[in-house]
Amino acid sequence: MNENKIGIFDSGIGGVTVLKEIIKLLPNEDYIYYSDSKNNPYGDKNDDELNLICDNITKHLLEKNCKIIVIACNTASAKCVNYLREKYKSTLFIAIEPAYKMVYDYAYEKPTLVMATKGTIESERFNLLLKKYDNHKTYLLPCIGLANIIEEGNHEKIVNYLQENLSKYKGTIQNVVLGCTHYPLVQDEIKNVLGEVTFFNRSK
Ligand code: DGL
Repeated sequence: MNENKIGIFDSGIGGVTVLKEIIKLLPNEDYIYYSDSKNNPYGDKNDDELNLICDNITKHLLEKNCKIIVIACNTASAKCVNYLREKYKSTLFIAIEPAYKMVYDYAYEKPTLVMATKGTIESERFNLLLKKYDNHKTYLLPCIGLANIIEEGNHEKIVNYLQENLSKYKGTIQNVVLGCTHYPLVQDEIKNVLGEVTFFNRSK
């Protein structure tokens, strides 16, 4: 039995955007993808609820012989990785964060919109990141409910949501940080509202 699987999880299909990138780098590994659509959305859950959810998924992935666990969710990474690393000391947890440092590295001068869940935007981890790399032209947009609508796959709802919540930034914003793993799935629709912008959603 292969005891070196890589487990990867998110609150649904969003983490597939991360899985695709990992497979490009490590094509020969065995993966288990845990799509927790039952508990979607994570973005509105409190810390205790989310710790419990991530704990249960971790137990499940460990039982399936995963030795590395990728938290392919910005919200769960921001809120739960410390708890998981403390509790499962012999397991390697890979966490992610909104690609805000890339704005600092590549496009510091430009007005920036960070789209993420409420949980991520309010988290201590994200606020430390923001403080460290702040370009002082950054708008934070907690996209309440967006991951859920993407999960449903109702295109009309997605377009209406983005129209309602993003139109006011058109012409102002040049960088968009997609701080939730679900959002790259609607990158074209975001572009249709905001026009030509540069997206930041992963490391180069
Ligand atoms: N895809 C997740 C993230 O990256 C969470 C979305 C949600 O369930 O609210 O934050």
